[in-house]
Amino acid sequence: MAIKVIDDKFFFLSNKRVSYVMEVREGHLLHVHFGKKITCEDVSGCFNFYPLSFSCPENSIESDWFNLESIKAECPTFGSGDFRQPMVKIKGNNGEKINRFIFKSWEIIAKPVYKAMPYVRGGETLVVSLFDEVQSLEIKQYYTLFDDCDALLRHNQIINHSNKSIELSRFFSFNMDFDGSDFHVVSLYGKPSCEAQISCNKLGRGVTNLESNCGISSHKQNPFVALSKTDYNEHAGEVYGVNLVYSGSFKLSIELCNLNTVRLSGGINDNDFSWKLMPGDSFLSPEAVIVYSPSGLNGMSAEFSKLYRQRLLPNRANQKVAPIVINSWEAAFFDFDENKLKSIIDSASGSGIDTFVLDDGWFGKRNRDNCSLGDWHCNTNKIKCGLKGIKDYCTQKGLKFGLWVEPEMISEDSDLFRAHPDYYVHCGGYKPSESRHQYILDLVRDDVFNYLKEIFYQLIKTCEVDYIKWDMNRYITENYSSALASNRQGEFNHRYTLRLYELIEYLTSAFPDVIFEGCCGGGGRVDAGMLYYFSQIWASDATCANERAKIMYGWSLCYPLCALSGHVSKSPNLQNNRAIDFNTRADIAMLGAFGYELDLNALTKEECDQIPKQCELLKKVYPILQNGNFYRLLSPFASDYFSVMAMDAKKERGYLWFYQRLVDYGKTPVRLKLKGLDENKTYHLDYFDIMLSGSTLMNVGLAVPVFYEDFKSLLCKIEEVNLQK
Ligand code: GLA
Repeated sequence: MAIKVIDDKFFFLSNKRVSYVMEVREGHLLHVHFGKKITCEDVSGCFNFYPLSFSCPENSIESDWFNLESIKAECPTFGSGDFRQPMVKIKGNNGEKINRFIFKSWEIIAKPVYKAMPYVRGGETLVVSLFDEVQSLEIKQYYTLFDDCDALLRHNQIINHSNKSIELSRFFSFNMDFDGSDFHVVSLYGKPSCEAQISCNKLGRGVTNLESNCGISSHKQNPFVALSKTDYNEHAGEVYGVNLVYSGSFKLSIELCNLNTVRLSGGINDNDFSWKLMPGDSFLSPEAVIVYSPSGLNGMSAEFSKLYRQRLLPNRANQKVAPIVINSWEAAFFDFDENKLKSIIDSASGSGIDTFVLDDGWFGKRNRDNCSLGDWHCNTNKIKCGLKGIKDYCTQKGLKFGLWVEPEMISEDSDLFRAHPDYYVHCGGYKPSESRHQYILDLVRDDVFNYLKEIFYQLIKTCEVDYIKWDMNRYITENYSSALASNRQGEFNHRYTLRLYELIEYLTSAFPDVIFEGCCGGGGRVDAGMLYYFSQIWASDATCANERAKIMYGWSLCYPLCALSGHVSKSPNLQNNRAIDFNTRADIAMLGAFGYELDLNALTKEECDQIPKQCELLKKVYPILQNGNFYRLLSPFASDYFSVMAMDAKKERGYLWFYQRLVDYGKTPVRLKLKGLDENKTYHLDYFDIMLSGSTLMNVGLAVPVFYEDFKSLLCKIEEVNLQK
């Protein structure tokens, strides 16, 4: 990546395709361009791009041509004539509410490695320092762009150089101003079992906030947004995507201003945030990943996916095919004993499934979801041989052993609660809000944090666990910690998130060979912060293939599907009673990290015979999801069809998924225009047993006959003809 700085005034970050350009003017760091690559010579023309101040001259405090309200700012603050949303708000020690951060210096460094929070790994970074001389505060803005990816990484750091304390009331990760007002906003919203629903609206006047106040990223709104020019679609048009590498409460704010410009900013949610910064202290924002795509939403997703697979996910995720699991949850829920578990293990042994995951219900006296969280010792009434016995049985049967845990939680009916009734998050005399009969542990307290470190270290070590499913089944309420002074309670949410990261960092580093899967009442914490530590996340509790296809389609906007897990579950489905055939359920589960979550003993012989074949197929499909290119072809949000495909980088092999919700005799066959093929190659499509050129498949399309059956899919191998044996 090339970073060029001209006359201490123009900053260029460029790779072969895109440029991010800034300029210092009147001491302010201004945004000039993020989009198609431009050259340094082009910069002389940039001056003309600024709207002049005639629209509201009385607000200009700088000069008669320069107006903060009409510029594109990199670090907008409050109270100096820019009346749009500020990126930073600070309460000074003398009651000041304003700041003026003026350009001071720059340097190019290797991207710092911070222990406290997850950041995309590596890269050469431009650091621009801005100074508020009145209050002796410095903001360092960090910018990283990679050669092979069109994503700009941004985060900020503030340092208090004064001898007085200040208080941050907003410290976002980025600000970007856009010319023009004609934008669409694409985002992901949802609820448990209905995550990653795609919302697409025309941007309206005023401020639109996409946010979570849940203490975690949440099902409600994902920390992702895309702004696209009106003439966009999946494969064409300019799109800017932003994703926060953060798992706590966040805000993404979009403001369509009166001067017909758009401001996009975001970071830690400031609704319940303040941070006291003592003399000499510094504070870091989480990272924002900002993607530019000239080729529609699909182009944007490809950049996020590439970046996350190469530089965010823990290495182990890239090294192997994700484990193929049999999970006990929908197979038995809480209703099992040692024999039942062993029968599940027996049924999976030798089938191609490689890991048995013991889900909820193995600890304390837990037979329902109303007790025992915190009592992380095996219920030997249910499992007489203990966890080690189950591990040994798995080993004997050729399987690895995984365990469900929910470390951040405590049940009122637990030994832990009886011993430490003050360990949970609560606030004074207010009755705590229960959710799923459980409370959150106050990770901000050192004693709670140390207890968790020790108990989970010992659990993983003594039971020789190969796989941990780390669940989190409620949002945070009564956001308060007895470990914080009264004037620091606004720090609670972020400190909780930092402590969570510290705990996960500790355990994942202590057990580098253990696979960690994230989970949060399904997909309530699918975010780039978690993907830094966890090589996979359970995408949703919706295990019906029909719902799951939509959810995976939604997640694919921003996250690589190889890092999201899905399982074949019972039919009729336990949540919605919908019957879907075994192969269709497997096809949809194969969109990510794959497994089964049903009683294999209850399957028909034909279904059982399918399992080894499905596991073999997964081993071919998964590496392509992991290393290849992914394309969305038909949206289940817009039609009764779902279609996506993945091709390897050499354009030799890939897979095409097609799923039809309902039979409609009025419909003609769907013609799918495939993507990512080589026009000059000929491909064989095994499902149809036909050979067609890449050019035909991409430009004319493939006619897919409609099925005469509801809820039916196909998964078709696409292979270059001369590679076939
Ligand atoms: C959550 C998870 C499920 C399962 C249950 C167990 O809902 O998303 O997969 O682990 O908890 O209680």
